[in-house]
Amino acid sequence: MSVATAAADRSVCSPLPVLGRDVRVPLVTGGEVDYAALDYAASAPALQRVWDDVAAYAPYYGSVHRGAGYLSQLSTDLFENSRRTVAEFLGCRADDQVVFTRSTTDSLNLLAAALPQGTRVFVFETEHHASLLPWEQRADVEVTYLNAPRTPLQAVDALEKALAEREPYGPALVCVTGASNVTGELWPVRELAAAAHAHGARIVLDAAQLVPHHPVDLAELDADWVAFSGHKLYAPFGSGVLAGRADWLREAAPYLAGGGASRKVTRRVSGEGACGVDVEWHTTAARHEAGSPNVIGAYAIASACQALSEAGFPALIAREQELIERVRAGLAEVPEVQVLSLFGADAARVGVLSFVVEGWNSSHFAAALSAEYGIGVRDGLFCAHPLVRTLLGSEPQDPGECGAPEAAPGERSLNAIRVSFGVGTPDEHVDRFVRAVRELVTDGARWNYRTEDGRCVPARSAG
Ligand code: ALA
Repeated sequence: MSVATAAADRSVCSPLPVLGRDVRVPLVTGGEVDYAALDYAASAPALQRVWDDVAAYAPYYGSVHRGAGYLSQLSTDLFENSRRTVAEFLGCRADDQVVFTRSTTDSLNLLAAALPQGTRVFVFETEHHASLLPWEQRADVEVTYLNAPRTPLQAVDALEKALAEREPYGPALVCVTGASNVTGELWPVRELAAAAHAHGARIVLDAAQLVPHHPVDLAELDADWVAFSGHKLYAPFGSGVLAGRADWLREAAPYLAGGGASRKVTRRVSGEGACGVDVEWHTTAARHEAGSPNVIGAYAIASACQALSEAGFPALIAREQELIERVRAGLAEVPEVQVLSLFGADAARVGVLSFVVEGWNSSHFAAALSAEYGIGVRDGLFCAHPLVRTLLGSEPQDPGECGAPEAAPGERSLNAIRVSFGVGTPDEHVDRFVRAVRELVTDGARWNYRTEDGRCVPARSAG
């Protein structure tokens, strides 16, 4: 196929360039700077390679699984080849399925919907909401929440204990994150998978924050499923993935009912005429992909997987560790900054760090980083409210007006600031970030800020 061949021929440079590296943004204090995108954990910029591949394919766009035309055939091939590329990237076993979804949240909701009746789910309260909340949507599923562990070993011990206490029969699922979206810390996935399997449970890995930074091999980790989003994997075209064991997915009702998921639909007729339809559903991944598939989203993910594999994770990890050390060393020189951690300063991590600054409202601090330095970070509770509350030791309450610190010196903060980065992040971005933190703490903001819709925004005048 011409598009795929063109993509395969392209040489890849390392580190991989991303889009947006030349975007200039205005500063409230005058002039403009290159935008420093340091919020990869929320949404990473697209890889240039992904963008180029999508652009090369776009003229050939056509319907998937439902057209006789040449471009429909080509698009169908591209979609199914993308599935194979993703399966290979994830180290899927021969009988695993790769389902294209909208996001990690969608993938985990799909798995929740597919759980056999009466499944017991085990989840740490430290999960972000996508992996914390879907399970209780099932009235027939009992969820056991495990307290925040303080070491990876404690996590394994807590899971072992909880699983040992459950009824010995019936299906069980453990859900665990690979890397925290708050602390960036790596979780002991292989050990948790071994514990789950030793007790007859299955495990799903929420790899939303892991897969952009580390290789994820389902077979090697002995995990049953993995879920992630394209928009954190440098492929922001509206697709995500749930990959893993086929049996529960095949036996479950289709996630959405409609064309594409159904193989055959027949009229049900009674004596008086039509009275319904009988449906034979697909038993492949298509069962959970009703509607026209997002071929561009799937191809973008496959393109990102290929680009990361070709660049090589060892080189990408080494580069990211350099950046992590630069940020950590810089923040360590500012005594007012406290980096949040569950497993301790020496824990293995990806390029995601959250912190609080003594005496500062986090929203105010993040607004000043943006308005005065052109740096994009995230502040708040990062869709992981229980974890951030645990790390801060604070209770939910209104953070208050941004002009005033939300926590007096010595008191606990109510929100945090998160900096995150990855492929394509230049030294200058993290160096500017460290300098900005130091200057804001030492000199204060140079501008006035006000609260609008619960967020800090620059006011009309300088401070
Ligand atoms: N999980 C995403 C984040 O951490 C939404 O920003």
